[in-house]
Amino acid sequence: MALWQTYYTPTSIDEALRLLAEHGSEARVIAGGTDLLVELERGIRSPRVLIDISRVQGLDRIKLDGDVLHVGPLVSHNQLVGSREVRERAFPLAQAAWSVGAPAIRNRGTLGGNLVTASPANDTITPLWAMGGAVTLRSVRGERTLPFPEFYQGVRRIDMAPDEMVVEVTVPALAPDERGIFLKLGLRRALAISVVNVAVILAFGGKVVTKARIALGSVAPTIIRVPEAEETLVGRPLASVRIERAAEMAAAAAAPIDDIRAGADYRRRVVGTLVQRALTALAEEREAEEFPAAPPFLWGTTGGRFPRLAGKTIRHRVGGAEPIECTVNGENRVVRGANGKTLLQMLRDDLGLTGVREGCGEGECGACTVWLDGVAVLSCLVPAPRAHGAHIVTIEGLAQGEELHPLQQAFIDEGAVQCGYCTPGFIMSGVKLLEEIEQPTREQILYGIAGNLCRCTGYYKIVRAIERAAGE
Ligand SMILES: Cc1cc2nc3c(=O)[nH]c(=O)nc-3n(C[C@H](O)[C@H](O)[C@H](O)COP(=O)(O)OP(=O)(O)OC[C@H]3O[C@@H](n4cnc5c(N)ncnc54)[C@H](O)[C@@H]3O)c2cc1C
Ligand code: FES
Ligand code: FES
Repeated sequence: MALWQTYYTPTSIDEALRLLAEHGSEARVIAGGTDLLVELERGIRSPRVLIDISRVQGLDRIKLDGDVLHVGPLVSHNQLVGSREVRERAFPLAQAAWSVGAPAIRNRGTLGGNLVTASPANDTITPLWAMGGAVTLRSVRGERTLPFPEFYQGVRRIDMAPDEMVVEVTVPALAPDERGIFLKLGLRRALAISVVNVAVILAFGGKVVTKARIALGSVAPTIIRVPEAEETLVGRPLASVRIERAAEMAAAAAAPIDDIRAGADYRRRVVGTLVQRALTALAEEREAEEFPAAPPFLWGTTGGRFPRLAGKTIRHRVGGAEPIECTVNGENRVVRGANGKTLLQMLRDDLGLTGVREGCGEGECGACTVWLDGVAVLSCLVPAPRAHGAHIVTIEGLAQGEELHPLQQAFIDEGAVQCGYCTPGFIMSGVKLLEEIEQPTREQILYGIAGNLCRCTGYYKIVRAIERAAGE
């Protein structure tokens, strides 16, 4: 059974809104698909119609207008990380975006999708909540702007009608006297949903705290602020006794649940620790310490911008005659019968490109990594109709005739392969990394392959292979 029946690719906001009005609760917007495809696979949602807004013009801009930052819903996590405006004027948002998943998830996953999924563990909500963000929704009926505390109504519940979509996120930029930080505890450093996350924004007049905002994620049905902890900080220098007091108050305010990732008690203690660390880092002006100076994105030279489409809305029906037309490894391909599949299934089943591997089917392993219009993505989380009009490269497209790509050769020379199941994914990530950063540091390599898992070789030889290819 296909996961959807009809897949629309509108090319304008108006056309997307018209489709939403026409199909109502039968339809769902899809942006990067990194949440929605997992939900469809697990049967959490079952819309008949998907409306893919990822080719619509004008929804991926970041603009600083006076002291307000305007961010389009299609801006990806990696684009938030890469944006000078976001790093300089909304640094905790850049930190939160950097903490999402791993590079290929950050290339497709969007801010709008993160906000609409509305899990209290979703990382970008917390800093935007602390900074006073708002969401603008539009439908054919009109437009409205809701501050975050009104937009969010509970766990995965938001005030958004089925015919509405997010068209903009606005947030007051940090003023010159303000600094902020986002911290998260996950079960590991990449590909880890927050057990707890924290955003703290402070304004300083000299050494004295003049304003404080503390937001906690993953400890209640929605993000919460902690007014009593904020008040205890204001009007005084940020001394350790105040920091401890605020951390205790934050821990007491949290009302977390037990779940698969952590127990409630543990979460409460982590809140105290994270708030303490956040405040200490701000007191010592170390908030940017762990943020990479030159993070790898795995988007090569594209800046992470996927080409937008012009012209009429494209429709692909499951069982319909509309083909998916794209180039794969430089060849024009016309595929029929894949309108209800993922790109991974289309590449393997319809085009016989079995170098693209399925490990998990949920974005967790990186074995299915391919390049979509020059950007590394996970093909298990890309609907096949999204490839219409796009350029795809798979591991089969890397060698030049008989000559392997230098990174493929380096994997052989370094013995970086055992069963080989993960290898195509690592190589697709690795080659993209080298295209972007010719001589990556060890740290950049680790960031670059953070979304690729290997169960048998281990990572030393893989890292050495990438270093060797870079050297050559
Ligand atoms: C392996 C893995 C790791 C992850 N790690 C993290 C993590 O560490 N932290 C984290 O916060 N998230 C994480 N995520 C979740 C996910 O990547 C993000 O939430 C992402 O930002 C979702 O954006 P998207 O564009 O992919 O959304 P989609 O999947 O396209 O859509 C998500 C939801 O938003 C709706 N939607 C999207 N855009 C709009 C719009 N403009 N208007 C109205 N509705 C819209 C869709 O209908 C859908 O309900 C992870 C996901 C995976 C698979
Ligand atoms: S990430 Fe796509 S199969 Fe695992
Ligand atoms: S070589 Fe076997 S999973 Fe990596």
